[in-house]
Amino acid sequence: MFNEHDLASRLSGRLIGNRVHFLKEVDSTNIYASGLARAGAPEGTVVIADCQTKGKGRMDRVWQSPPGSNIYTSIILRSSIETAVAPQITLVAGVAVAGFLSEYCPEDVTLKWPNDVQIGGKKICGILTEMKTSGGKVDFVIVGIGININMKKEDFHKEFRNNSTSLIEEVGRDISRFDFTIRLYGFLEKWYKEFLLEGFNPIKDEWLKYAGIIGKEIKVVLNDDIQTGKAVGIDEYGALLIFDEKEKIKRVIAGDVSLVEN
Ligand code: BTN
Repeated sequence: MFNEHDLASRLSGRLIGNRVHFLKEVDSTNIYASGLARAGAPEGTVVIADCQTKGKGRMDRVWQSPPGSNIYTSIILRSSIETAVAPQITLVAGVAVAGFLSEYCPEDVTLKWPNDVQIGGKKICGILTEMKTSGGKVDFVIVGIGININMKKEDFHKEFRNNSTSLIEEVGRDISRFDFTIRLYGFLEKWYKEFLLEGFNPIKDEWLKYAGIIGKEIKVVLNDDIQTGKAVGIDEYGALLIFDEKEKIKRVIAGDVSLVEN
């Protein structure tokens, strides 16, 4: 079980986790972190909860957030980057989580654009980045990360059961959420510092190593709009690049990606 004092003392001296807010229950760690950021909480502040009553996913979806089993955390970042390139931060988080999960399941981890981390093609982690901007610059970014840790297959809602997974399902043993969280923040700090020092290129290169869809025919669905083509990469704004049937490169900025079966 988490304990704010122990988390804070293990994270002392680090950037990510220099302030720790642990909540037994919260509506959403992203909402809570956003309130803290508006009140001036510094970069590296983390919010972590045992359960969420209104866990948010992308596109107004619900993120299943039962107590006692998973990680629900939000991190406040304050890098003064242009609003247009803020999606890069989501990819920084994706690369960090993918690298960390590869320590448990080498070879099996993939990133599904824009921000799902998968093991064996099943989703184990979702990342929801939200931000406040002013004058074209980012004031703060909230990076919300949900990772399924000790949740059993039968505990997933029916509609997610076949395409989601958890660490216990993949490695076959209980994982200490406390140790996992400390190491997760370590990976996030490493990749965030790399981004601040070296820019987006190393992040993009690393992201592409995990991208299962590159070179494959895909479909991107956003509401009623469906785009198809071959996935060829991502650009510096984090947009997905596809080669469409007219052999033109198209930028895709939102949607759900799936492989097209031939
Ligand atoms: C997605 O894949 O749709 C993104 C899911 C993000 C879930 C996390 S859990 C911690 C943080 N708080 C939230 O309400 N959402 C994010």
